Amino acid sequence: MTRLAGKSALITGAARGIGRGFAEAYVREGATVAIGDINMEAAEQTAAEIGGGAYAVHIDVSRQDSIDAAIASVVSHAGKLDILVNNAAVFDAAETVDITRDSYDRLYAINVAGTLFTMQAAARQMIAQGHGGKIINMASQAGRRGESLVLVYCSTKAAVISMTQSAGLNLIKHGINVNAIAPGVVDGEHWVHVDALFAKLEGKAPGQKKREVEASVPAGRYALPADLSGMAVFLASPEADYIVSQTYNVDGGQWMS
Ligand SMILES: NC(=O)c1ccc[n+]([C@@H]2O[C@H](COP(=O)([O-])OP(=O)(O)OC[C@H]3O[C@@H](n4cnc5c(N)ncnc54)[C@H](O)[C@@H]3O)[C@@H](O)[C@H]2O)c1
Repeated sequence: MTRLAGKSALITGAARGIGRGFAEAYVREGATVAIGDINMEAAEQTAAEIGGGAYAVHIDVSRQDSIDAAIASVVSHAGKLDILVNNAAVFDAAETVDITRDSYDRLYAINVAGTLFTMQAAARQMIAQGHGGKIINMASQAGRRGESLVLVYCSTKAAVISMTQSAGLNLIKHGINVNAIAPGVVDGEHWVHVDALFAKLEGKAPGQKKREVEASVPAGRYALPADLSGMAVFLASPEADYIVSQTYNVDGGQWMS
């Protein structure tokens, strides 16, 4: 299928995990896709492995100069920017009384400010082009409710849901659709880090938290990036032209809203 034929997309944090899965799906659908990541070596390897319209672009979403340079690089490579997926994010967990300023600042700089200012830079480019565009933010089930040890990350994802609502309302007059995807638990390298954090905080054996979480998913298993990519393609396509400010749960039944 070629539902994204001729489109130019930037996906942040696409060197691995969910972003990589989206990049593979977008290339299959005919798009030219910038694999944006802070880890340029991994981004280049991923772009080479995907092939087709994939190419690597360095971006650190916590730095304005890097965001601006990445958007300029996409425009220079592909001539335009039609689709942004704000996917880069980091996770941390701690007892409330142990949360540090450093952890808070890092998560907010990447997950919240990174999402906002990459969205802003992309929207400016799309407005200048005059043909609208699609912006997809990665939220999380964690943004729907708190979790005992995950205060900061959960609040950054609640902020992503809220920013999606406001930006969507503000940008639709330019034909830019802003929407979000809220996954539940998605298998990948990310979970190695999460499982190790919970092993330390809850005194669990390595792998135990991951198994317990899987048992709680109504669909009975972790998602794979491919389970989410249908929604990511749909929201980037003209079929989503009338969808504004929404956050879609793609989580195996973990949350209903
Ligand atoms: N994996 C899950 O279970 C899950 C669940 C819900 C939501 N999400 C969300 O989905 C998105 C992708 O998750 P994932 O599991 O694939 O993550 P991941 O940790 O596997 O990959 C994140 C990528 O972002 C890159 N990155 C980190 N900091 C960056 C920065 N400052 N600038 C640019 N790139 C940066 C990393 O190098 C990495 O390639 C995130 O927004 C995450 O919060 C993940």
